Amino acid sequence: VSVQALHSFRLPAHARGVIAVNTREDLTKLEISEPFWILGEGTNTIFTEDYLGTVLSVRLRGIVRTETPDAWRLEVAAGENWHDLVVFTLAQGMPGFENLALIPGSVGAAPVQNIGAYGVEISDFIEHVEVFNLKTKSFSTLTPAECQFAYRESFFKRPESAHLLITRVTFLLPKAWKPVLTYPDLRSLSHEATPTEIMERVIAVRQAKLPDPALIPNAGSFFKNPVVTMDHIHMLQKEYPEIPVYPVSETHGKIAAGWLIDRIGLKGFSFGGAGVHDRQALVLVNRNGATGDDLCGLAQHIVEMVHSRYGVMLEPEVRLLEKDKLLNSKEWLH
Ligand code: EPU
Repeated sequence: VSVQALHSFRLPAHARGVIAVNTREDLTKLEISEPFWILGEGTNTIFTEDYLGTVLSVRLRGIVRTETPDAWRLEVAAGENWHDLVVFTLAQGMPGFENLALIPGSVGAAPVQNIGAYGVEISDFIEHVEVFNLKTKSFSTLTPAECQFAYRESFFKRPESAHLLITRVTFLLPKAWKPVLTYPDLRSLSHEATPTEIMERVIAVRQAKLPDPALIPNAGSFFKNPVVTMDHIHMLQKEYPEIPVYPVSETHGKIAAGWLIDRIGLKGFSFGGAGVHDRQALVLVNRNGATGDDLCGLAQHIVEMVHSRYGVMLEPEVRLLEKDKLLNSKEWLH
């Protein structure tokens, strides 16, 4: 079965089979053997070659809204679209998600990499995550602590959780709303800005920089922004005083990988059918019938250039799949 249309990077690849999960009953009846891969809208998974396993396509729908004295509570099924949820909550007078507008993908995929933008992360709002255990065939819930959220990381990225399929995410949106306008792209907004005005700014900024996957296939940021020691940052700042740095802790900072790649001169660079987006160097695109080899060759070239220029090791933010497992990008530097 072709999976080209099931992932937004649109590489030509096949899987052994694709099983759609439309209802919770589908899950309890499911007979599945390994290897398998759980897929939402496929906006952060890339099939770099044929996948010798089964793809589970999660399409559970539904939103249940309740409230506590302090917050709106939303129980959202995994197959709902994330951006539609953002628009829905704001239209219903429940702000909080405005900085996370226009992030592609499904609600069920959002906790996996703890989606974030402009100083806000989805983990700020999660009450719990419901999963279906494909081994024991039972539902259970995880607390935020059990989810182990970090920057673009969670328990759901670890091998120990491979048999857990996220079915529902429960969010708490505090009724006491405070805008987060600390990121440079939002700093010019007035502190009187409404949640909808903030969302509109976020949408405008993203549309100006990020390629629309419907027009130029891509999977958003291809690499994570590397977290490095402040000592390393001070060393880099001697040569590059303008390097964008975001604080992480007293000892570590996060540097903008897009800036590092851009500064090497790779913005707009092409390798076969794959390329570096010409308005945001952190985003790799499928410019013209790219193959998995084109994309991996391009990514390896970037990793090597960034490593030799700045001594920083880039790691993929996207999930790259090869034959029957996640690709081991550590081999790119050998
Ligand atoms: N920059 C350049 N050249 C470039 C790209 C970026 O100089 O080609 C500079 C920018 O001028 C800015 C800094 O690097 O000073 C950061 O760029 P930007 O604000 O565009 O954000 P980012 O750090 O590249 C991260 C997230 C995005 C998220 C934005 C906004 C990661 C891996 N990416 O990108 O998330 O939308 O911040 O907060 O953390 C995604 O995860 O797929 C994604 C798009």
